[in-house]
Amino acid sequence: MGLRAVIFDLDGVITDTSRFHYLCWKKLADQYHVPFDEKFNERFKGVSRKDCVRLLFPEIQDDARLDELAEQKNHHYVEMIQQITPADLFDGTQELLRELRAYGIKTAIGSASKNTPLVLQKLEIAHWFDAVADGTEVAHSKPAPDVFELCARKLNVACSECIVIEDAQAGVQAALAAGMTVVGIGSQELLPEADWTVNSVRDVSWDLLNRLTLKNKR
Ligand code: BG6
Ligand code: MG
Repeated sequence: MGLRAVIFDLDGVITDTSRFHYLCWKKLADQYHVPFDEKFNERFKGVSRKDCVRLLFPEIQDDARLDELAEQKNHHYVEMIQQITPADLFDGTQELLRELRAYGIKTAIGSASKNTPLVLQKLEIAHWFDAVADGTEVAHSKPAPDVFELCARKLNVACSECIVIEDAQAGVQAALAAGMTVVGIGSQELLPEADWTVNSVRDVSWDLLNRLTLKNKR
């Protein structure tokens, strides 16, 4: 493949909203005396709100009740993200976007979050991306490839020409299912399927993206 686009996950990749998601699930879990910790939370990353509620309350079958619980969590979350400012953009994000733009590489956000527009607005970063695809637009959330395939369609590039930057196990699987190359943000132990892992978006360089492109050239 030749590299034509880089797709960024949102929560936990360009800003620390994955922390906010965790805190809100923890609050809900505590309220209902359900055990919940950071390890369990790894399975929530990249996964839709409704699927997260199903993970937290596996015994509940009633759809209306699941929606109610999802709404409670989202209420806490929307309140929390009001405090986001452009200073919450992770270091290195803007530099990488600038570099990609200079090389003519397209960029997109591919997130499961239905709050994507609000977070991007708070970060004042939306105009840097050529496309945005989020949880409001796809039938199946990560690990299904839908959101990344939609990004590729919006950017008018082939999936094999995209590199995804992801911090979630479900997100890495979604990118691979779409036939894309994936850089994991986090440990190799947590994201063993990623083509490469780095600690943060700051460590994603033009050089790394090119090396991965060459590695996956078929
Ligand atoms: C993902 C997060 O980006 O968005 C998940 O990693 C979250 O933890 C999902 O559940 C859905 O977010 P929202 O904002 O639609 O509830
Ligand atoms: Mg994420």
